[in-house]
Amino acid sequence: MSDQSTIRRAVLTGTGAYLPAQIVTNAEMAARVDTSDEWITERTGIKQRHFSAPHETATFMGAAAGRAALEAAGLAPEALGAIIVGTSTPDNAFPATAVQIQRELGAKKAFGFDLAAACSGFIYALSVADAMLRTGQVESVLVIGSEVYSRILNFEDRGTCVLFGDGAGAVVLQARDVAPGGVGVLSTHLHSDGNLADILYVDGAIGRPGMPGHLVMNGREVFRHAVSLLTGAVTEALTANNLTAADIDFLVPHQANKRIIDGVGKKLGLPPERVIITVDQHANTSAASIPLALHTAITDGRIKPGALILLEALGGGLTWGSALLRV
Ligand code: ACO
Repeated sequence: MSDQSTIRRAVLTGTGAYLPAQIVTNAEMAARVDTSDEWITERTGIKQRHFSAPHETATFMGAAAGRAALEAAGLAPEALGAIIVGTSTPDNAFPATAVQIQRELGAKKAFGFDLAAACSGFIYALSVADAMLRTGQVESVLVIGSEVYSRILNFEDRGTCVLFGDGAGAVVLQARDVAPGGVGVLSTHLHSDGNLADILYVDGAIGRPGMPGHLVMNGREVFRHAVSLLTGAVTEALTANNLTAADIDFLVPHQANKRIIDGVGKKLGLPPERVIITVDQHANTSAASIPLALHTAITDGRIKPGALILLEALGGGLTWGSALLRV
């Protein structure tokens, strides 16, 4: 119950991560396709990526990241209210990855579902979790991004296969009654435009006969839209909360490409030390990239309690969005 001086918010209480053991460097990619460390580094900032072994599925990795996030939050799996998984690479068409993770964690009381918004999956899932927590539907939500893009990459296409990696990141959000200036998700802002579907998509899935699906991208067009749409989404988040970029402690962007991240950071006037970068280590892990970056910067001590952080992502759809939260 909140009294007049408090507001019910979704508060971040734990983070977790899982990365496959196998690291593939740019030099190793160059042995596989006609590319070079120099080309990849210059255009994207990527130095290496993790690729899954067969057992490292979205469920396996998501459960590991989720378990770690619950431990960090000090929340028993049996007490968890819901699990939402952002993924484009589920183990099965159904049951949902989230329900399989529920079984792995022994989260008996929780309900779970997957959410498909490509690289914006984490922001979308965070937004849904925030609404469920603020309206009192549940008291806690485990939000996971878990992806095995190595299984949908076309290794004949050097323009895309060097850009992505596998991994999972997770956060626990819990409902808390806090002071208006206190911790929690302040707002989320979601967008999509199906007219831009053909610049970034997977050309099939289980419902398309004979087309398991590979990632297809017009990189130039994605790049062209990314900086302006993302700048719009972060400006929207700041305006909605009467804040300016100077109030932001850290930008934790989707990790697709360092040039896109730098472009948004520059438009906001943020110095590089206030922008979290993991794309060099993880490449683009789609829905997993923001929780992985968040976990990295919280566990290495950069993001401290009380910090105001701005999240943004853009992905296939197109989908894009932003979120503002105080940790
Ligand atoms: N290694 C070497 N050369 C390559 C590679 C490679 N891996 N890939 C493409 N090239 C070549 C092309 O064949 C082309 O050669 P040509 O001029 O002889 O024809 C040349 O490099 C330029 O190709 P472009 O595709 O025009 O390269 P561009 O400068 O646009 O860079 C990139 C490509 C890095 C993909 C860029 O467009 C980009 O950053 N786009 C943003 C897209 C992005 O980051 N997407 C991530 C997904 S978004 C999301 O998160 C879902």
